[in-house]
Amino acid sequence: LISALFILAAYLLGSVPFGYLFTKYATGKNVLELGSMSIGSTNVERVAGKKISVLTQVCDMLKGLLPVGIAIVLQKNNIIFLEDYFICLIALAAILGHDFSIFLKLKGGKGVNTTLGASILLAPIQVLASVIIFFVVKKFTKYVSVGSICLGISLPLTGLFFPISYCFYYLLTVALLIVIMHIPNISRLIRGNENATASQQKKQK
Ligand code: G3P
Repeated sequence: LISALFILAAYLLGSVPFGYLFTKYATGKNVLELGSMSIGSTNVERVAGKKISVLTQVCDMLKGLLPVGIAIVLQKNNIIFLEDYFICLIALAAILGHDFSIFLKLKGGKGVNTTLGASILLAPIQVLASVIIFFVVKKFTKYVSVGSICLGISLPLTGLFFPISYCFYYLLTVALLIVIMHIPNISRLIRGNENATASQQKKQK
């Protein structure tokens, strides 16, 4: 029962739509109706600017990191018994909460920041490698979405080079989820009308 409650709590925490709330508070605008209609920090930057975007990014990472961190501490200190794979399920629950928030009629973001926060303690090398890949790809393509997709795909791929066993399936699942959540971006990229980043928009003005 405790394990099921943990999953539920992680989903609810993941569901807290920081990007939506901060944007509404700071600008009065509804981020779900503007730009890419995602509550993620990339779209928050378009709608509400850099500062609110950074705040969103930090909070979105923390809502992945916190439940996983708490679960690991409780497990390591034998306070509750949790199987290792269960901690991956807790991470996944937080990410699903962000992507399909119970507070936004199952709308949400694309889960990149929450995935990073939720995975850093489970697969630190893979996460760091994927972040480097993100920045390199973003620099060359100028699209956050292409960077994010490569970040997602790289998580299980780099996992092949390091021993992480069951965690590999977790990374495979989150990678798939990131790619699926970016389907609208992929079709915009193919059509050649992907949304610009906020800084590109500024330059064009
Ligand atoms: O992590 C989300 C990013 O890859 C794309 O965001 O708002 O351009 O769809 P957005």
